[in-house]
Parts: sequence; structure tokens; C-alpha cells
Amino acid sequence: MQLKDKVVFITGGAEGFGKAVAEAVLRKGAKVCVADVNVDLGEATAKELQASSRADSVLFVKCDVSDASVFEDAFKAAVSKFGHVDVMCNNAGILDERIWEKQLEINFGGVVRGTMMALNHMRKDKGGRGGVIINTASIGGLLPSFWFPTYAASKSAVYHFTASWAKNPDMKSADVRMVSICPSGAKTALLDMAEEKIINYEHFKQFMERSKYCRVDQVVEAFLLAMEDDTIHGTAITIKSKEGVEKMKMSLVPAE
Ligand SMILES: NC(=O)c1ccc[n+]([C@@H]2O[C@H](COP(=O)([O-])OP(=O)(O)OC[C@H]3O[C@@H](n4cnc5c(N)ncnc54)[C@H](O)[C@@H]3O)[C@@H](O)[C@H]2O)c1
Repeated sequence: MQLKDKVVFITGGAEGFGKAVAEAVLRKGAKVCVADVNVDLGEATAKELQASSRADSVLFVKCDVSDASVFEDAFKAAVSKFGHVDVMCNNAGILDERIWEKQLEINFGGVVRGTMMALNHMRKDKGGRGGVIINTASIGGLLPSFWFPTYAASKSAVYHFTASWAKNPDMKSADVRMVSICPSGAKTALLDMAEEKIINYEHFKQFMERSKYCRVDQVVEAFLLAMEDDTIHGTAITIKSKEGVEKMKMSLVPAE
């Protein structure tokens, strides 16, 4: 998909990966709806994006992905401003094992809600224009991660849900592609974590000190690949850090 003049909806767009993806697609001539539960930060981000691109290409909507009607209203606001949505990035997420039910609601429930809403809107066999749905999972969803078992399970669910939907034979006539993005650890607010949010924090800290973080721009590269390469469907794009920051590889894990 060529991004020029396309409409990209990004949950969790106020900071971190979501904000960086918004900046990147605006540079490619797309329009962006930043949807986030953090209103102050979301509005500030939208202003920043408007200042560095085109004011009428950026919309901020308040959106809690764990609340179906609020999420629906946010999506409708984007459709009402821009006419349609071509790319849905279900990216909002939290990491906090103490509130594991809320974590599942946001990390997985939010992805299911956003995927179903976008699919119904986009599918060509039901009058839509086609599109791409990109769901942010994690390397932690592909490998057992004892520091945050519920977070890892929520991300595993995101990967499996996305790959499973992509297998549906109707997706061909719907002309909707589905991709999950699986980054390893990156320095965003998500990992500015209080000790009590994860299990075995000291061990995790030591592990992260030994490992290299992946860079946010590499994650953005993965998102752009998912949007622009029309052959990618049902795939997890991983961003690995094992070989160090400069040598990091992005590999495509086949869905089967
Ligand atoms: N940073 C990492 O190491 C890492 C690695 C793998 C995957 N991820 C995933 O990437 C995604 C983005 O994370 P990030 O690192 O940019 O984190 P971040 O904390 O910088 O950004 C997350 C954004 O999501 C928003 N958000 C939280 N709950 C929400 C809700 N209920 N509704 C709407 N918005 C909500 C926050 O306000 C914030 O703006 C998350 O799904 C995260 O799990 C992050």
C-alpha cells in the first residue's frame, strides 16, 4: 500500500512506538488519527505532529481501548473527519502484572475490539476499501517470559489471534491484510517500570543490562514494512536484539 493520502488510526499514539509511527506515516503523506487514553499527552503530541506536518492531517481522539463504546466513538470520529480508515494499528498496551485482568483487557481485548471494528469497516466484500490491520504483540509473546507471564500471554494471544484471522479464506475477497509486530525490549515509557510491576525484577534488570535494546526507529521500520509490502499477511514481524543494536535483524516468521 502506498501511504500517500491514506488514513492511519493508531491506538496508544500519544508516545512511544505509536507516536513514532505517526511521525513516520505523516512524512509519507498519510493522515493520522492518534487515539490514546492519556488526553493531555495525546493533545500535546497531536499539536507537535500538526506543527511538523499539516494541521488538517492530524486528529487526536480520546480512546480507552478497554471500553468498547468509547473505542467505537473514537473510530467513528476518525471516519467522520477523514472519510475512512485504511490502516489500523492496534498498538496501545501496558505492562503491569499486578493488574493482570486490566492488562488482558487492554493488551488483548483492545486488539480484538480494534481488529473487528476495522475489519468490518475495511472489508471490500462488504462495501469497504480494503486495508491493513497491524497489531502490536511482542517477542515476549513468542518466547516464555517469566518476568511477566500475563503480559507475555496477552501478547501471545495477539499474535495467535492475528495469524488465525489472516487464515480465514474470506480475507482474500475482503482485501484486508493482518500483521503482528513483535519487538524485543525498547526504551519507551513502558519499560520505565516500577519494580513491583513485574516478577523477578532484579533478574529482569540484569538481563536487560546484558541485552541490547531494540531501537524505536527499527520498530517503525517494521510498521512501515507491514503497511507498504502487500505480500505480508498473517505474519509476525520480529525485531530482535540478540546480536546488538547495529546488527539487529528483522525477520518474518511464517504463520504456519
Ligand atoms: N517498549 C517495549 O519494550 C515493547 C516491546 C514489545 C512490545 N511493546 C508493545 O508496544 C506497544 C506500545 O508500547 P510502547 O513501548 O510504545 O509504550 P508506551 O508506554 O510508550 O506507549 C503506550 C501508549 O499506550 C497508551 N495506552 C495505555 N493504555 C491505553 C488504553 N487503555 N487505551 C488507549 N491507549 C492506552 C498510553 O497512554 C501510551 O501513550 C504496547 O502494546 C507494548 O506492549 C513494547
